[in-house]
Amino acid sequence: MSKKKPSKEWLHKQNTDQYVKQARESHYRSRAIYKLQEIDQRDKLIKPNYCVVDLGSAPGSWSQYASERVGAKGRVVAVDILPMEAVDRVLFTLGDFTDEAVEKTLMEQIGEKKADLVISDMAPNLTGIRVTDQARSIGLAEIVYDFCQQALKPGGNLLIKLFEGAGTSEYRQLLKEGFGKVMTRKPGASRDKSREFYILALSYRL
Ligand SMILES: C[S@@+](CC[C@H](N)C(=O)[O-])C[C@H]1O[C@@H](n2cnc3c(N)ncnc32)[C@H](O)[C@@H]1O
Repeated sequence: MSKKKPSKEWLHKQNTDQYVKQARESHYRSRAIYKLQEIDQRDKLIKPNYCVVDLGSAPGSWSQYASERVGAKGRVVAVDILPMEAVDRVLFTLGDFTDEAVEKTLMEQIGEKKADLVISDMAPNLTGIRVTDQARSIGLAEIVYDFCQQALKPGGNLLIKLFEGAGTSEYRQLLKEGFGKVMTRKPGASRDKSREFYILALSYRL
């Protein structure tokens, strides 16, 4: 299968973007690190010894960051449909998160004590048809919420990427049923023009 060539516009943006430069100069694999870092610094999301589940983890900058933050006694469980180069102390599963067998593997890796935090930077494959893409994004987010109901310990938290559009306010409402507090975050590294934003849902209650 031939790989799609990046557009000139995309390459230009990549080469001039301060966060891309910063990521290249550090050991992080993607500029996405700065989105998680900013939210973490503000909301104190990731703590030593935590069990963190990283959904849609490739190429791996969130997993790198989470693994550093949880330390040697913490755990990071990660999954992606794309391969990911190994990250220290990260248990990676290659597969589609929505497959039952993949979910079962993740639950085994998380273990009985359950997870303190689920982070999802997943975005479905885009078709270019906005209504379809939005519906898929919300569909995936609903599966993430179902997963949280099994995987999170009481008091656990969720950080999830969404795209502004149909279904987002209903999704917020849904999260309010299961979490004590639901907030919106748009970190500096998230491009202004992008409809992307993050929802932070705190204090999962059974
Ligand atoms: C924006 S990237 C994540 C970047 C990552 N946070 C980082 O810091 O390197 C989104 C990822 O979600 C993955 N993804 C999308 N749908 C998925 C699914 N159903 N199951 C697993 N991974 C999925 C994609 O393959 C892609 O690698």
